[in-house]
Amino acid sequence: MSEAAGERLVKTERHGRAGLARLNRPEALNALSDALMAELGAALLAFDADPEIGAIIITGSERAFAAGADIREMKDRAYPDTFLNDFIGARWETILRVRKPVIAAVAGFALGGGCELAMMCDIVLAADTARFGQPEINLGIIPGAGGTQRLVRAVGKAKAMEMVLSGRMLSAEEAERANLVARVVPAAELIAEAIKLAERIGGLSPVAVAMAKQAVNSAFETTLRAGILHERQLFLSLFGTGDQREGMAAFLEKRSPRFRQS
Ligand code: CAA
Repeated sequence: MSEAAGERLVKTERHGRAGLARLNRPEALNALSDALMAELGAALLAFDADPEIGAIIITGSERAFAAGADIREMKDRAYPDTFLNDFIGARWETILRVRKPVIAAVAGFALGGGCELAMMCDIVLAADTARFGQPEINLGIIPGAGGTQRLVRAVGKAKAMEMVLSGRMLSAEEAERANLVARVVPAAELIAEAIKLAERIGGLSPVAVAMAKQAVNSAFETTLRAGILHERQLFLSLFGTGDQREGMAAFLEKRSPRFRQS
């Protein structure tokens, strides 16, 4: 629950087969407190378990997707308690357990942990107002939720190094050129575009979508050979599904497929 009693830190909405989780700490530019991350994790797992939902969107406000981990909350933290209490750790990585596609719809600031949260999503859609950065160095720390690793894989070493060492922010346009985001859209259309994308993915074969996500993630997490073998196993296993038969029959019969969605 939020500081303002009764307000949730993460509000959820459903739009057809799209589940939307909206970060709701406007007074702190959606700083990612422990409580907010716990609520977000619970919301994501609930959508993941819901057969009516096919894809998930995380968004913030017009001003901020999220301005990073909560500096007020972490300023007095000390080692080794940070280690023993698994600061960042499991609470932040709940999103990695989600098997359905997760889309980050980013407007305004996505800084520090906010940029890292976006990078943990499967697709990043950016409003033209979005700004991405890893400004932790200004606080005397470094990114702690995968920023130094995922950023390098997304944008390459040169730009990642500049961002992490100097804290410089990228505009939406520069982030798109650097392959940090899939697409930039006008701010006024961000949520509608994200919902359209989530609904489109949510209408496809759930098993093929989940396996496609796993296969692409293998490219990040394994060697090329291991990734190709994993892809092949997943590809072959899809020939054991009704959705493969339905998808191919529908194509040949020139009709829309009716995939099993629950
Ligand atoms: N944590 C806690 N509170 C934050 C916050 C954060 N990360 N970011 C912003 N806020 C709060 C501000 O303290 C301020 O609160 P008050 O009104 O109570 O003073 C409110 O949000 C509005 O912020 P500003 O007045 O600073 O707004 P601005 O428009 O002048 O600046 C900003 C916006 C450039 C995003 C600036 O707020 C900023 O630099 N924020 C911090 C960004 C940052 O350093 N993020 C990294 C955090 S560390 C991290 O994330 C570690 C990790 O890897 C997991």
